[in-house]
Amino acid sequence: MHNDVEKILFSEEELKKICQRLGKQITKAFEGQKVLVVGVLKGSFIFLGDLVKNIDGDLNIDFIDASSYYNGTQTTSHVTISKDLSIDPDGKCVLIVEDIVDSGNTANFLVDYMKAKNAKDVKFCTLFDKPKRRQVAFTPDYIGASVDDNFIVGYGLDYAENYRHLPYIGILKESVYL
Ligand code: IMP
Ligand code: MG
Repeated sequence: MHNDVEKILFSEEELKKICQRLGKQITKAFEGQKVLVVGVLKGSFIFLGDLVKNIDGDLNIDFIDASSYYNGTQTTSHVTISKDLSIDPDGKCVLIVEDIVDSGNTANFLVDYMKAKNAKDVKFCTLFDKPKRRQVAFTPDYIGASVDDNFIVGYGLDYAENYRHLPYIGILKESVYL
């Protein structure tokens, strides 16, 4: 596992600090409003857990499984939902929580989806952003960190469903997927 990692990009301590900073920003932005936090499965599961501990306010938590990925390192523009929300976003302030925004396809799709379901307000928080990889314009409201075009794993993020449990974010060795 650890041998497949070229370099550690963010340590557990750095990830904790990112969650504290984002939690403060989100607490302030949503002051006095109840938020429906929607985690995008599966990649956001660890991030969401750490993030919500740093949000001081009223919230509900739900998950949606939507992705434009197909067990590899390449993105496709076709987004599918394989697990839908269980809480109706109608009239609610929704905060979508994603692991990483790459092409922007999944993010755009999800924002449109929440609006079509009559959410009152939709904001988007991503742990990582790869702005150079955009195929469609998208600017997240809250960003943990911008990263270069390396394939990263750990802290929820996978390659072919592996490495999600690593406590840090590492750059995967190219030899693993080439
Ligand atoms: P998009 O629709 O192309 O923006 O896809 C974003 C999704 O691609 C994320 O939710 C991740 O599941 C996946 N993804 C993109 N880059 C990486 C990476 O470096 N490591 C792991 N997953 C990634
Ligand atoms: Mg994902």
